[in-house]
Amino acid sequence: MQRTRSTNEKRLLSTSNSTTSSGNGSREGGDCLKELDGIANIVSAARSYFQTRLAMGEDSIVLGAGRGRSRMAERSPEETLALLEKRVARCKRCPLHKTRTNVVFGTGSRKTGLVFIGEAPGRDEDLQGKPFVGRAGQLLTRIIEAVKFDREDVYITNVIKCRPEGNRDPLPEEVDLCSIHLAEQLEILKPKVICALGRFAAQAMSGLNLTMASYRGENLFYRGTRVVATYHPAACLRNPSLKRAVWEDVQKLMEIWKNA
Ligand code: URA
Repeated sequence: MQRTRSTNEKRLLSTSNSTTSSGNGSREGGDCLKELDGIANIVSAARSYFQTRLAMGEDSIVLGAGRGRSRMAERSPEETLALLEKRVARCKRCPLHKTRTNVVFGTGSRKTGLVFIGEAPGRDEDLQGKPFVGRAGQLLTRIIEAVKFDREDVYITNVIKCRPEGNRDPLPEEVDLCSIHLAEQLEILKPKVICALGRFAAQAMSGLNLTMASYRGENLFYRGTRVVATYHPAACLRNPSLKRAVWEDVQKLMEIWKNA
């Protein structure tokens, strides 16, 4: 059956004809490719914009200003975070989904504006679906309590949400694919200050590639939010002399938090 073209379709075709032809009716191939690249960039930016809005809990998106109230405005950050957690629980972006027992999204409260970020879940975390519940986690709990907070007062998560088998280091492509989840999480949490636990988290948060000692000496930022990098609790378990440096770093963290 022959289709008749809708008015919109005709308009679209006539627009694209006018932009792909020059005065003499032809265009250089290079110009067309550049134009297609431009269109691909716009489509890709629009896709990531809508993905973020959906991830932040909007289940319907109203296009056009003033034509309706966004549903996101009706949700609390806690509800938005819970919706994101449900979505991340189904994530299959990288092969780690095949070997995980649980996605380890994050736990705690956003109310104090303090967020601790580790590397990736280990065996205990994978089994329980919660971050930092093994030996390193017990030390992290003591560090948090040393600055007079309960573990439940702060938010704890990881750069990678699923356990790399055998606790190997996460691969760059796994970090890339998983980074959208942490970015969306932090967008909702809006921390006053972030504590990056270990070199891996410091690198992911600052975008710099330094030694742990150099990260400690730098003023680091993640999208405008201060980041304090310190040694990972697991490193402190292996080398207890690092605990003094961690103590200094959490004092700095609290100073920044109080003034934020
Ligand atoms: N190490 C981490 O980096 N994260 C955890 O959740 C546990 C151990």
